[in-house]
Amino acid sequence: MNVLILLGHPDTGSLNHALAQAVRDDLRAAGHDVVFHDLYAERFDPLLGSAEIPERGQVPPAIQAHCDELCAADGIVVVHPNWWGQPPAILTGWIDRVVRPGRAYRFEEGDGGEGVPVGLLRARAAVVLNTSNTEKEREQTAFGDPLEAIWRRCIFDLCGVRVFHRRTFGVVVTSTEAERLAWIEEAKALCRKAFGPARPASST
Ligand SMILES: Cc1cc2nc3c(=O)[nH]c(=O)nc-3n(C[C@H](O)[C@H](O)[C@H](O)COP(=O)(O)O)c2cc1C
Repeated sequence: MNVLILLGHPDTGSLNHALAQAVRDDLRAAGHDVVFHDLYAERFDPLLGSAEIPERGQVPPAIQAHCDELCAADGIVVVHPNWWGQPPAILTGWIDRVVRPGRAYRFEEGDGGEGVPVGLLRARAAVVLNTSNTEKEREQTAFGDPLEAIWRRCIFDLCGVRVFHRRTFGVVVTSTEAERLAWIEEAKALCRKAFGPARPASST
């Protein structure tokens, strides 16, 4: 499978980096073709300009390349911390620029853009790995876990990716090294299970 991994975290020593790298290496070891983007290391420009907004707008080649990778992905992994109930801005900028009309979703004939879009992504599963410093119950009761709605409903379901897994690891700030190592193993197992074998078993 072609698996696209996106990492949005500035600190190379962070748990987020450890999670993303472990999942990348493990999926490659399992035979998957992995495209890996460390958005901060690549200095991804998150600013969507006005000329780029229309479906047939002027899209720079670097962004077209991101769109092509997204559309070619059979599986998608997103790794980022919870920052104010949102992904870091570099990642929301990637969504703004790369999850484009005409590539990731489209509106039906005669729909001026107010209706329900049709998802165009071919990916059969998406996995979102988050980290946070808030207890799970408080995240749900006090904040409504906005990252769940953003990724599951606003992005992946809308774009046609119906199989969705999300795991939030935490509380990070008080975690032990043993807990963090266990989380990394859990992330690897979750992604292996979500995407299955790299190639379907031969019937002969
Ligand atoms: C700008 C910023 C905003 C944050 N907002 C939240 C938040 O809303 N909820 C939360 O639980 N943690 C929040 N945190 C804490 C991070 O989620 C936490 O530091 C991170 O998940 C730890 O993983 P790491 O070691 O990979 O950075 C925030 C951290 C930063 C820097």
